Amino acid sequence: MKILAIESSCDETAAAVIEDGRKICSNIIYSQAEEHALYGGVVPEIASRGHVEAICAVSQAAVREVGMTVADVDAIAATCAPGLIGALLVGTNYAKSLAWSVGKPFIPVHHIRGHIAANLLAFPELEPPFLCLSVSGGSSMIVLVRDYTDMEILGGTRDDAAGEAFDKVARVLGVGYPGGPKIDKLAQSGHDKAYPLPRSHVDGAPLDFSFSGLKTAVINLAHNAEQKGEPIRIPDLAASFSAAVSDTLVPRFKLAAEQTGVHTLVAAGGVAANSRLRADLEKMAAGFGVPIYMPPLSLCGDNAAMIGAQAYYEYLAGNLGSIWQNAFATAEISEKICQKHGIVKKHARR
Ligand code: KG4
Repeated sequence: MKILAIESSCDETAAAVIEDGRKICSNIIYSQAEEHALYGGVVPEIASRGHVEAICAVSQAAVREVGMTVADVDAIAATCAPGLIGALLVGTNYAKSLAWSVGKPFIPVHHIRGHIAANLLAFPELEPPFLCLSVSGGSSMIVLVRDYTDMEILGGTRDDAAGEAFDKVARVLGVGYPGGPKIDKLAQSGHDKAYPLPRSHVDGAPLDFSFSGLKTAVINLAHNAEQKGEPIRIPDLAASFSAAVSDTLVPRFKLAAEQTGVHTLVAAGGVAANSRLRADLEKMAAGFGVPIYMPPLSLCGDNAAMIGAQAYYEYLAGNLGSIWQNAFATAEISEKICQKHGIVKKHARR
């Protein structure tokens, strides 16, 4: 079964054709990062307009690359939640209209489920149940993936997402946007113990974590240094910050593995590209005598291939959307987001 999948939840307009949830036939990504870099972060209105301009060409390119037309694919999928609502609406409306026009099923996909499914493309042997550390720009959580469409959040951030913290720290240090990859690169030549930074702990919720205190600590450190006229050793601060993020995430992921007894370990999301985190996760998994499944860097960030992978399993589970399908800025990973009728969801949460 070949699915044309479309992703437009943030600042990447992407389309891909995926076969049986596991094989990438084409994977086109148009990134708007350069436009947003001017403002130091994603400007939602610019993102929506960018998607409108690019979505036809990107989708056509994805089917053309495999010698097909839209009418030849078996189904069409799109990210419908969570994300920037204006951006999501472009992909959702385009994809469901396309599906309707060629008489094919439409499959709404949850963005974070898609990030997790990036691993299904990279590792043919990977099957649920598994435990996933999902860390991206909009959310960070530990997810028990019982089955392809049955997921439970075991813990997560109480405030900022890990990627958000990377981006804000990068902005304060003036190293540019998107911040995560820049901080990661700078950290390679820094000392990770040079600056003492806090590791969060949430009382009574051992699998939860927080990044706002860490972010504030870095901001205060930068402001104090500026006021005293002291130079900041940016590579050292980048390395110390990256270590603090990893030290916050990895022990909780380890605890979740111990508590659940699930030792098939997976990482996903943009921050899963971070070299310090990847190295620490590898060490942690080695302690259990198992590998850690992590997508190749090309599939960590937003892409439509991962949406096509998850869409296949949503299709098998009967999770189809109709022409009434809406997009949602927030929706929990455990929620079914497909709408067969014109229901308005009012209280969806991330
Ligand atoms: O998963 P993603 O592409 O978008 C969302 O679904 O949110 O994640 C984007 C986030 C950004 O905050 C970006 O700075 C961060 O992932 N990121 C990284 C790295 N590459 C991307 N953070 C740390 N180290 C990296 N190498």
